Amino acid sequence: MQEPRNRSAGGGYFRTKSIEQSIQDTEEPDHALTRSLSALDLTVFGVGVIIGTGIFVLTGAVAKENAGPAVALAFVTAGVVCALAALCYAEFASTVPVAGSAYTFSYASLGELPAWIIGWDLMLEMALGTAVVAVGWSGYVRSLMDNADWHLPNGLQGAAADGFGFDLLAFLLVLVLTAILVLGMKLSARVTALVVAIKVTVVLLVIIAGAFFIEGSNYSPFIPEATGSIAGSGLDAPLIQLMFGYEPTTFGVQGIFTAASVVFFAFIGFDIVATAAEETRNPQRDMPRGILGSLLICTVLYVAVSIVVTGMQNYTQLSVDAPLADAFKATGHPIYGGFISFGAAVGLTTVCMILLLGQTRVFFAMSRDGLLPRFFSRVHPQFATPYRSTVLLGCVVAVIAGFTSIEELAELVNIGTLFAFVVVALGVIILRRTRPDLPRAFRTPWVPVLPIASVCASLWLMLNLPAETWVRFGAWMIAGFVIYFVYGRAHSRMSATTKL
Ligand code: ALA
Repeated sequence: MQEPRNRSAGGGYFRTKSIEQSIQDTEEPDHALTRSLSALDLTVFGVGVIIGTGIFVLTGAVAKENAGPAVALAFVTAGVVCALAALCYAEFASTVPVAGSAYTFSYASLGELPAWIIGWDLMLEMALGTAVVAVGWSGYVRSLMDNADWHLPNGLQGAAADGFGFDLLAFLLVLVLTAILVLGMKLSARVTALVVAIKVTVVLLVIIAGAFFIEGSNYSPFIPEATGSIAGSGLDAPLIQLMFGYEPTTFGVQGIFTAASVVFFAFIGFDIVATAAEETRNPQRDMPRGILGSLLICTVLYVAVSIVVTGMQNYTQLSVDAPLADAFKATGHPIYGGFISFGAAVGLTTVCMILLLGQTRVFFAMSRDGLLPRFFSRVHPQFATPYRSTVLLGCVVAVIAGFTSIEELAELVNIGTLFAFVVVALGVIILRRTRPDLPRAFRTPWVPVLPIASVCASLWLMLNLPAETWVRFGAWMIAGFVIYFVYGRAHSRMSATTKL
C-alpha cells in the first residue's frame, strides 16, 4: 500500500489541503466528473446564469424606489465590484482546477475552517438564488398564462402577502431541472446553449427596438434628488446608516449605492463558472477566459438595457414585476412585450438550472472531503453525475421555492456572495505568499493592491444592505459552525492525516 502523499499542511482548524491533493482527488474513479467543457461552453454557461431576475425584474423596482435613471450607474458600480472579484476568482480558478469554487480555493489557501465557512456560505447563495429565480420565473409564466386566460387556483400562485400560499410552478420547475442535472452535464450544456441564445436575443431586442422609443425628457433628472427614506428605520435601514447615523435617504448619490447592493444580484453567476473547473478540458487557459468574458458581456448589456428602459418610461411609472415587457406595452407595443415575457421565462430557466448545478458541485466537493457525509459524493455509474447530492438539494430547494417570496431572499443571497468575494480576494494574497511556486495560468494584476480594493468594494456593498439581512446571515453562519464542530471536523479526510 502507498504511503499517503504530502496531502496537507498545518494542523487544526487551519490545516490546508495541498493543491496536488485537490487535483489528485478529482481522479478517484468513483468520485470523478467528466472533462468536457471548453472556454466557449464556459462563457455560454456564464451568460446563461448571469442574465436573469436581476435585469428582468429588479431593474424596475430599483429605478423606481432607489436610483431613477441612475440605475445604470448602479449597474456600473456593481459591475466594477464584480470585475475586481473576477480578477481574483480567475487566478484561483486557474490555479486550483477542481470542483467547489471558492470552497476549494480557500481549503488550499486559508485552511479547513475558513473553507467550511465559505462552502456553507456558497450553499446559501446558490440554494436561495435558485429559489429566487424559480419564483421570478413562475411570475413570468403566470403572466403568459393570464394572456391565454388560464389561471391557477389562488392558493397555488405563490406566497400571498397576507397569508399562506404555495408556488406550484416554481416547485415543479426545480424538480424538473433536478432530473435534467441527474441525467448529465452534456444534456444540460446543450439545453443551456439554446436557452442562452433566446435570452440574449430578447435582451438585444429590448436594447435595439427600445432605443427608437426613448424620450429624452425621461432622463431629467438623471439622479433624482435625495429624499427621506420610506424604509429607512430600524433594521430595514442599510447597516451603514445605522453605524454612522446617516440621515436615511432614497435617491441621490446614496440611493445609487443602495441600488447597487440590490442589482448586484444581476451579476451573481460568474463565480459559479469557477465551480465547473473540474469539468473543463483545459481549465488553466479556459477558466479565466470564461469568467472574464461572460462578466464583460453582461455588464455592457445591463447598462444598455437600463438606459433604454428608463428612457422609454419615466422611472416613477416603471413596472415592478415585468419592467422590460411593460415598458413596451406602455409605449404602445404589446407584441414586443409578449415576446419579451416569453424570452424572460425561458431565460430564467437556465439561470435556475446553473445555480442548482453550482450548488450540487460545492456540496459534492465538501462531501468528498468528508466535511459532509461521503455518501453524497458517489457519482452515478451510468450518468457520471453526483446524483445523490443533486436529488437531495433539488428537493430542498423546490420546497423553499414553493413557500417563500423573493425580495428578502435576494438580499440574503447578495450578502453571502459578497462575503465569498472577500474570502477569495484574501485567499489570492495568502496563496501568493504561501505557494509562490505554483503555476498560475492567469495572474491577478497588482497584487496585493487589487485584491485589497476588491475586499473594500465588496464590504462597501455589504454595508449598504439592510441590518436585518446581516442578522439573518449571522444566524445561517452560526448554524454552519455548529454542524462543523459536531460533524465535519471529526469526519474530515484531513483528520486522518494531521494531528489536531
Ligand atoms: N444573476 C442572476 C440573476 O440575475 C442570478 O437572476
